[in-house]
Amino acid sequence: MVSVRLVAVSGSPGVGKSALCRLLGESGFNDVDLTALVKKEGLGVRDRKRDALAVDVDVLEGALKEKIRGSSGVVVLDGLLSHHLPVERVVVVRCDALVLAGRLKARKYSSEKIRENVEAEFLGVILEEALGKKVPVLEVDVTKEIDFKRVAGWVKNKGETNLLSLDMSESFSVFLGGFI
Ligand SMILES: Nc1ncnc2c1ncn2[C@@H]1O[C@H](COP(=O)(O)OP(=O)(O)O)[C@@H](O)[C@H]1O
Ligand SMILES: [Mg+2]
Repeated sequence: MVSVRLVAVSGSPGVGKSALCRLLGESGFNDVDLTALVKKEGLGVRDRKRDALAVDVDVLEGALKEKIRGSSGVVVLDGLLSHHLPVERVVVVRCDALVLAGRLKARKYSSEKIRENVEAEFLGVILEEALGKKVPVLEVDVTKEIDFKRVAGWVKNKGETNLLSLDMSESFSVFLGGFI
């Protein structure tokens, strides 16, 4: 993978990672859907208690290396585990808590899963994990629109860390009000 620059596009489930990556792909980036890769290669182990697929990051990295063998340049990795891979920078996709709740509901997630994921988004769990990588992080809010050109420019120009000051407290309170 010597000549490949891996860039993670991460974020909570449903925030809009794949929608953003689709636009990046259409604008010429090489993108890999890690969720699809996990499914195709059968890399996930069902975690019944959490109603989720558990994936070993080392195993995922092995499958990715195989998939992008011979590639060069930037490869954009779409998935909520992408920031755990050996990436040179991370785009963290953010979405307002209430809007996210609606998207997860549309995906027929259980109330428990919606609560878990909306709370993680409110707390910025993925952002914190990404910052722990000590590589440049771009935080993008796609609640209203997907400014993929900003993301494309940041990736191409090897931008520095650029964070937003999002306040989802009101939105999250409304969500909790309707939930409890
Ligand atoms: N900016 C946006 N505006 C409206 N709907 C969006 C936006 N981004 C994503 N969506 C919708 O939200 C849902 C989840 O988006 P998706 O890209 O699949 O999320 P992820 O890949 O992060 O799980 C999809 O139905 C998608 O069409
Ligand atoms: Mg997706």
